[in-house]
Amino acid sequence: MKFTVMTLFPDMILETAKTSIMGRAMEAGVLSVEAVDIRDYTHNKFRHVDDYPFGGGAGMVIEAAPVYECWQDIVRDKENKPRVVYMTPKGRTFDQQMARELAQEDELILLCGHYEGIDQRALDLIVTDEISIGDYVLTGGELPALVVMDAVARMVEGVLGNSTSAEDESFSGMYLEYPQYTRPRIFEGMEVPEVLLNGNHAAIEEWRLRESMKITLERRPDLIDPERMSAKERKIYAEIVKNHC
Ligand code: ADE
Repeated sequence: MKFTVMTLFPDMILETAKTSIMGRAMEAGVLSVEAVDIRDYTHNKFRHVDDYPFGGGAGMVIEAAPVYECWQDIVRDKENKPRVVYMTPKGRTFDQQMARELAQEDELILLCGHYEGIDQRALDLIVTDEISIGDYVLTGGELPALVVMDAVARMVEGVLGNSTSAEDESFSGMYLEYPQYTRPRIFEGMEVPEVLLNGNHAAIEEWRLRESMKITLERRPDLIDPERMSAKERKIYAEIVKNHC
């Protein structure tokens, strides 16, 4: 999987991406992250990329030309043009389903804006998708791009050490993740739940499902859909709801 990020802050992307699991995947050759500086495509000696908005108003707007020329340079030799994802609070709200879908692509271009945005004509020419990472406004698209890259990368085969770990977590299914414990068995007088210690895998699985359902019901009842439950899930769910009332 290859990410090419169009940005005014390439170091912010590269420094962050090269640490942690994304960096390891880059070293292993499963992932590639490139950051292209939009400022390299200006034609003025001050390397200004922005100008005042037509019609007036606060802030500055990134000009169409450097963004468009930067994109042309990236796709010049590519037969299939990758999707271009513009990070903006106006976009569709990012979720696990979108991460899974984007992970099917071989290559993605992420476009980061700043100031009051980018001249609409550049967006109309190159952007295929617009993504928001939530209902709040950040100063730029770099952090959102890193969030999207991280979530997409971990869905790509070979990025996580263990291929099952991407699935067995909150938002992959219907429920938030159950609590996890590791050694020691007793910490500050608090014991690990007995069921996790006895090697009874069916009992462990049921305990985990029950804990997942409890925490989901408590924090994100909107994620629960009894219509999609198996018979076993429905039985446990009914017990939890009964105990809750
Ligand atoms: N740029 C600024 N705020 C953003 C957000 N919430 N999501 C995506 N891009 C952004």
